[in-house]
Amino acid sequence: MARILITSAIPYINGIKHLGNLVGSQLPADLYARYNRARGNEVMFICATDEHGTPAELAAAKAGKPVAEYCKDMHAVQSKLADGFRLSFDHYGRSSSERNHKLTQHFAGKLADAGLIEEVSETQVYSNADGRFLPDRYIEGTCPNCGSEDARGDQCENCTKQLDPTDLINPRSAISGSTDLEVRDTKHLYLRQSNLKDKLDDWISSKTDWPVLTTSIAKKWLHDGEGLRDRGITRDLDWGIPVKRGTEDWPGMEGKVFYVWFDAPIEYIAGTAEWADANGKTDADWERWWRTDKGADDVTYVQFMGKDNVPFHTLSFPATIMGSGEPWKLVDYIKSFNYLNYDGGQFSTSKGRGVFMDQALDILPSDYWRWWLLSHAPESSDSEFTWDDFQASVNSDLANVLGNFVSRVTKFCRSKFSEAVPDGPDYGPAEQAVIDALQTRLTAYEGFMEAMEVRKAASELRAIWTLGNEYLQEQAPWSVFKTDEATAAMQIRFALNLIPFYAALSEPFIPDAADALAAAMNTPLAWPNSASEALNLLPAGHAFTVPDITFAKITDDARDEMQAKFAGN
Ligand code: 2FM
Ligand code: ZN
Repeated sequence: MARILITSAIPYINGIKHLGNLVGSQLPADLYARYNRARGNEVMFICATDEHGTPAELAAAKAGKPVAEYCKDMHAVQSKLADGFRLSFDHYGRSSSERNHKLTQHFAGKLADAGLIEEVSETQVYSNADGRFLPDRYIEGTCPNCGSEDARGDQCENCTKQLDPTDLINPRSAISGSTDLEVRDTKHLYLRQSNLKDKLDDWISSKTDWPVLTTSIAKKWLHDGEGLRDRGITRDLDWGIPVKRGTEDWPGMEGKVFYVWFDAPIEYIAGTAEWADANGKTDADWERWWRTDKGADDVTYVQFMGKDNVPFHTLSFPATIMGSGEPWKLVDYIKSFNYLNYDGGQFSTSKGRGVFMDQALDILPSDYWRWWLLSHAPESSDSEFTWDDFQASVNSDLANVLGNFVSRVTKFCRSKFSEAVPDGPDYGPAEQAVIDALQTRLTAYEGFMEAMEVRKAASELRAIWTLGNEYLQEQAPWSVFKTDEATAAMQIRFALNLIPFYAALSEPFIPDAADALAAAMNTPLAWPNSASEALNLLPAGHAFTVPDITFAKITDDARDEMQAKFAGN
């Protein structure tokens, strides 16, 4: 069995994430993790909160809490929401963990030993109005590359270019809006990733199977303009991982911390070490996922992220890994996503526009959201959440197709036969035709799931559900029953056998419904070896109960009310 290491981009600690964030990394990563587990592969699925940097400091100040306490509390909040959405992380770590402190300092030491770190005296923006150095994200201005007026000092979200604050035209403080900024002297460490340009270029070029979205962004930053630039990896902040060279102090770096984007991806590794600590495992247990000299050479490592994260994962983090000169596992496949927009615009935290993870779970169970989000994942282009579409998709796919099928079959059986699979003759040509069609679709579904083609997988699954409905519609066992009870029994036996088949295939998308279906049918979730084997799983006499999972339809009134409620101010 294969061993699959899966990481989702780690969400910033400040604030609750919206549905666009969720579908951009954590949710599709979960889909893939669940699928691989179902196929019997050994999976390690890691996520964490990204806790350093100024956003965390500022959010803590706003909440009136010390930053460490704020992060601890918000980690608990995000962790609970992750559970609510059934994100099946093996560990949901924290980038502020002791493990990450040690590993980040370790990598910095190795990079310095390899001559890849340079000490640079530089100038940094100080805001007189705010009385502090302004970290990159807290300087805003016009992007020199595309002209967007809302570029941040670390990156322009509009064109994804990585920036330095001094690149910005007309810079202003994001805290106060003040333009009374001055430039002061300070010393920082730079990662000389330009030295690794050829190595990175060869590596990216070898990834011919990667999504174009991923490689095109990487190639753009390798070759456009000035190409790959060295990156400052330290900051003048209190909160973060203190700058050390391995376990040694770093002269001149007192009071400084590593840049959040240096330590965040290292948390993928540290989070796996945290998993070991939390589960009474040894270092060898996590190292076999990450160290190719300690068993990780047969691991396939897949990362999930939004497109804005791609440069850091195709260039900066691999530069850290390669530059360390140690045998750490490099990513094998990067699945990246475009953005999900919200009802004709963008999600906006400040404007309260769009649905956030906590609000979503207050409205409807997670399966509803998981189904819509995954079946509309922004893969080939940005996609858009609208309440009309959400309503249509829930009402038709979940309620009319899947829910209705299950409830019709089980209730009919209970009323005409009993709460046990009825007997009757062997399957005939009509059933065989459905089995053949299911087999074709099952093979396609597995192919899409393996290829992480999320939307295509969802539409294949929908088609598989539809085959059951069409069968019922065409065979009409309720009419057959009137004249030929035995044949109707066989037809119901066939339809009942579809339910555990649906449960297993649907589990990666809608795990709660899948569990409920499997429980009602009195059979464990098991990935089918083939459609024909699966359709003969439940023998005559096998007891079941009528499941009380029904997907409630969203009424027009409810839809309109929610649309108004989340429109923002
Ligand atoms: O964009 C974000 O939400 C970042 N917190 C992602 C970090 S991913 C990785 F580097 F850990
Ligand atoms: Zn730009």
